[in-house]
Amino acid sequence: MMQLKTADRLNGIGEYYFSQKLREIDALNKEGKAIINLGIGSPDLPPHPDVIKTLQEEAAKPNVHAYQSYKGSPVLRKAMADWYATWYGVDLNPETEILPLIGSKEGIMHICMTYLNTGDQALIPNPGYPTYSSAVKLAGGEPVSYELVEALNWEPDLDALDKTDLSKVKLMWVNYPHMPTGQVPSAAFYARLIAFAKKHQILICHDNPYSFILNDQPSSLLAVPGAMEVVVELNSLSKSQNMAGWRIGMLAGAKDRIDEVIRFKSNMDSGMFLPAQLAAAKALQLGADWYASVNDVYRRRRKLVFELLDELNATYNPEQVGMFVWAKIPDQYKDGFEMSDAILYGANVFITPGGIFGSAGNGFIRVSLCSPEEKLKEAMERVRKNSGGWKKG
Ligand SMILES: Cc1ncc(COP(=O)(O)O)c(C=O)c1O
Repeated sequence: MMQLKTADRLNGIGEYYFSQKLREIDALNKEGKAIINLGIGSPDLPPHPDVIKTLQEEAAKPNVHAYQSYKGSPVLRKAMADWYATWYGVDLNPETEILPLIGSKEGIMHICMTYLNTGDQALIPNPGYPTYSSAVKLAGGEPVSYELVEALNWEPDLDALDKTDLSKVKLMWVNYPHMPTGQVPSAAFYARLIAFAKKHQILICHDNPYSFILNDQPSSLLAVPGAMEVVVELNSLSKSQNMAGWRIGMLAGAKDRIDEVIRFKSNMDSGMFLPAQLAAAKALQLGADWYASVNDVYRRRRKLVFELLDELNATYNPEQVGMFVWAKIPDQYKDGFEMSDAILYGANVFITPGGIFGSAGNGFIRVSLCSPEEKLKEAMERVRKNSGGWKKG
């Protein structure tokens, strides 16, 4: 086989943790272990039936199969703007202030590619979604992590950041409700964040995919007065509409920002399948009963996950929101990796080690709510039967 050197931009970028770990889990399954995977946040429930029906009906039409607009279908853009107005109280011009995306993950890359030159810095949360730092690096920028601690409600210490040299910082990645800690944002913090961004002329990139999951008050950073000047916000249908595999997300922000990102994105892809866009528009029109039904399921599951964590002697904040439960590991483990492996190899249950979200997550584990109650009960049985070091005393 030809030896081919990969581009320098891949230096330090490993394979995505889950893609590697899933191979290990696959190998265990082949040995007959039937691992219960409580790792990834990929909703196991289907979208609303009307969404599927729209996709089917639209896909059967002869004239929907061509390339689509780089800016997305006007129907979808309007549905996205209406959704922002209805749920977040944010008025967006569907023509100019909304850009449909093939999932918010690609939006993270687009934003980094649009704004970062070699040597530019981007602030990223530790712990946080790993894609922020890889996208910054792939774009040639330098990720500078800001640590989040429980004592400060997992909010960045803006006063401390203010005292550091921010001259090379162009972007700041922020994500509330925060994954992995489940922290909800406070209005006071959002106001301070906007002031901080204005003072330092930093573009705040807010990633907001979890606002509807087990959260009574969905909010957008764009609702804060003055935010449009310094914020772009990513949103997604993956979690709140159970459409992770459809790959539909959005970017919201000022016209100038959207135009800038389109300059990059329109060179990367050629739009999304129109029936999928029309079905997504349908999904965004669903009412409060949809979100309530999804959350009923997650609430029941979360109760079981709390019990599982009690059994594992891990502690957690019961007020957290989102699609996961974040928990502190008991003292006998060096870190979450060690505990995760003890549970994987001792009880055939996979739980994500908090350290994959950054060093500040080392003492934690994260349990996904994307498994049915029967699986969670079985996980509990397995954990109870096994004495893999997590028993009290
Ligand atoms: C914080 C955060 N942002 C973005 C994403 C990606 O979402 P999407 O499916 O819209 O690409 C995820 C997915 O797990 C996430 O946890």
